[in-house]
Amino acid sequence: MNGRRILLEVNDLKKHFPVRGGGLGRRAMGRVKAVDGVSFRIFEGETLGLVGESGCGKTTLGRCVVRGISATSGAVLYHGSDGQAVDFLKLDGRDLRRRRQEIQMIFQDPHSSLDPRMSVYDIIAEPLRVNGPGTGRGIDERVKYLAGVVSLNISHLMRYPHAFSGGQRQRIGIARALATNPRLVVADEPVSALDVSVRAQVLNLLEDLQEEFSLTYLFVSHDLSVVKHIADRVAVMYVGRIVEISETDRIFDGPKHPYTEALLSAVPRPDPRSRMKRIVLEGDVPNPADPPSGCHFHPRCRYARDICRERAPALREVEPGHLAACHFAGDLELRGVSAIR
Ligand SMILES: Nc1ncnc2c1ncn2[C@@H]1O[C@H](COP(=O)(O)OP(=O)(O)OP(=O)(O)O)[C@@H](O)[C@H]1O
Ligand code: SF4
Ligand SMILES: [Mg+2]
Repeated sequence: MNGRRILLEVNDLKKHFPVRGGGLGRRAMGRVKAVDGVSFRIFEGETLGLVGESGCGKTTLGRCVVRGISATSGAVLYHGSDGQAVDFLKLDGRDLRRRRQEIQMIFQDPHSSLDPRMSVYDIIAEPLRVNGPGTGRGIDERVKYLAGVVSLNISHLMRYPHAFSGGQRQRIGIARALATNPRLVVADEPVSALDVSVRAQVLNLLEDLQEEFSLTYLFVSHDLSVVKHIADRVAVMYVGRIVEISETDRIFDGPKHPYTEALLSAVPRPDPRSRMKRIVLEGDVPNPADPPSGCHFHPRCRYARDICRERAPALREVEPGHLAACHFAGDLELRGVSAIR
């Protein structure tokens, strides 16, 4: 990590999707609170891992941050290299086009995120044509340079995405994301759809690129072993909220939130004896249109007491740099990965 300069500050971000009824008019019947009051910071040069079970709101949060979808409320303060902080969500016109280049996204499924009717060359060139001042020659050089950076064969650039393997397609997606020289990259499960055999290669590539281009990553994944490997800090999300955030080692060795403890206990380990101690999370992630009262985790929490049903715990600093949203954080003796092992 290059120091502790803040690059991005997300403040009380919410994304509520309207649930529409059938029939004429399709009136809004309720709201899916996919992201419901999320605040965190990303420091320049770090990788912040974002974990949580399916449906917790990770993708929605990532897409709001890059403005792939519009947030319902909240702010995303972006600290530019010129030292100015701007609310990225409020920008428009030229300011938005300029800042958009600095905040890019890599998607989970490299198949559906690449336009099948465009050549790989055009896929990588598109953001340069849309945003950049680049001319034909400048674009040509840059596309070839980017292909080299992600180890794509330059003689294959006129081919279409279907001609490439999953791992190569993800390299195309990465080259496209890097085209405009971003500072922050939101990577949404960038290796989850890939064969296990190529996952490590793509992860290593992302790490090398981070170093080479001084990138900052918000790295979304439900795979804790990947996050342990790649992240400097980890944020744990549950039903639209961050329930714990700290440095990676502290999350893994000494979790402060029962949900994190349960997630960690499910990380596969080679030793069969350790599997006995898995904390089984009963039931599914609750429906964010109708979440449980108080602490959203209470119906599944082995430590829940009466207050948990009544009052929502705030995300508070339990130890310096370690925040958790649990009424009993700091009092509970929770097991990390080393203890479970
Ligand atoms: N366009 C939408 N309209 C209504 N609800 C949505 C929409 N997009 C997402 N949701 C809901 O918001 C919640 C969060 O979804 P999201 O895709 O952000 O979760 P996730 O953590 O990325 O899950 P996964 O690990 O499966 O990718 C889910 O309940 C989902 O059904
Ligand atoms: S507040 Fe209560 S229900 Fe929520 S995680 Fe803590 S102990 Fe469990
Ligand atoms: Mg997702």
